[in-house]
Amino acid sequence: MSNQTAQGYVPGPTYDEMRNPLLLPAELRQAALQARRDELDPKNLFNIHWCDASGGPRFAVLPRAFTRTRANIVVLFGCGFPSGSHKVGPAYSTLAEAEVEGRIHAGMTMVGPSTGNFGIGVAYVSHLKGYPALVVMPEGMSSERYERIRKYGGALDLTPGSESDVILVLERVEEIKRDPSMFILAQFELMPNYRFHRHVTGDAVLRAAAQVGNGKVAAFVSAPGSAGTLAAGDAVKQQFPGAQVVAVEPKECATLTSDGRGTHRIEGIGDKMVVLIHNVLRTDHILTVHDDDTVRGLKVMHSGVEMLRRVCGDGAYECFAESFGVSSICNIMGAIRTAHHLGLGEDDNVVTIATDGFDRYPSVMNDLEQRVGGTITGAMMEEWYNGIFGPAPEGDFLDVRSTAQHQRLFRMKEEVWSRFGYSREYLDSMKSNDFWDGEYAKVGAMNAKIAEVREKHGGLG
Ligand SMILES: Cc1ncc(COP(=O)(O)O)c(C=O)c1O
Repeated sequence: MSNQTAQGYVPGPTYDEMRNPLLLPAELRQAALQARRDELDPKNLFNIHWCDASGGPRFAVLPRAFTRTRANIVVLFGCGFPSGSHKVGPAYSTLAEAEVEGRIHAGMTMVGPSTGNFGIGVAYVSHLKGYPALVVMPEGMSSERYERIRKYGGALDLTPGSESDVILVLERVEEIKRDPSMFILAQFELMPNYRFHRHVTGDAVLRAAAQVGNGKVAAFVSAPGSAGTLAAGDAVKQQFPGAQVVAVEPKECATLTSDGRGTHRIEGIGDKMVVLIHNVLRTDHILTVHDDDTVRGLKVMHSGVEMLRRVCGDGAYECFAESFGVSSICNIMGAIRTAHHLGLGEDDNVVTIATDGFDRYPSVMNDLEQRVGGTITGAMMEEWYNGIFGPAPEGDFLDVRSTAQHQRLFRMKEEVWSRFGYSREYLDSMKSNDFWDGEYAKVGAMNAKIAEVREKHGGLG
């Protein structure tokens, strides 16, 4: 029977409740806050949101002494989500939509094509919902990622390569799909990922910015993996049409900029393709950064305590140590460089995202130490800081607002996705913002369906 797992139907939030957890009954909200003590308590599904206990988004404005920009660099913290990254949001949303539409049945296995964090989210949500999970991901990701997936009871199917080899993951999933007991939570293709970020992350971005500077968003910066997070840019543009949306990618794999296809070190982003759910019409600029700068930048923000104290003053950098991962640094670099590039002033806000925290990168820091041949000194970190957290070198931004650039990106999207069975008609329909607005408009119906199915199974009590 649909909506029925081995342990019975396990309720979770609607899109509106993830956007604003204060909509939940007070008792349930309290119970969810208590459940944080035991991450395997299914009530944690109601902690899938950007907010702290008061109901506002978790964010920080980075000290100006650190960013050396006039604009405000506003960073939302994803590490406070259950399972340690905001990718649990799209994992839950994709599963929840399929569940209420009766497409998932007891005994089915949830399959998460991923480079790690989405897979961790799939293993986690499936565990809470009572389904087995299989994560398909490259073999070369940080060891902490595999450990987490196993900890949540997920099985692993590893494909060759590392971050930029996601297409091999998609090909493997094509084989797995033939087994009808496998349900694919296809983050690169399915619209719940887009809906979650446009509705939930987009609102958190706007609410954080409302408390800083002139209260507006001048730019939103996000390095795309599945490009789900970039959908928050669609929400930003809806409210501030002049806002600029910037996608960051590694120079070593500059696919969006120049069809580059190299390997790189920024786990979670730069997947060698234009992802199906990326609305390229609402991306204004692409910025390339060196991959190892993001790894070195994480070392600086995590361990450069003496220098940070000197630069920022006591206490101002406290949030740096545990709240960022490698792609967070990529986004922060991108935000600082965007502020310089656009010549933004002190009232202006550039908002970006820290997808996960330091917990999944100690092995990456050890590897960095090996590669530089021993202890990383304060002097090295100071030199890295000066090079990394400043304006972009000439030519690192590409303006993609022209029709010619859109056509180029559409062509690249078609090349990948026609291979995976998407029709020309469907791909063509994505060339209009009506498609994306139409997909977003389904949030209301999904809210109603999730609430209806919950009621049918005894409500929230
Ligand atoms: C660490 C990390 N950063 C950034 C991203 C990119 O987010 P999105 O897939 O929403 O583009 C991911 C995606 O898995 C990730 O794991």
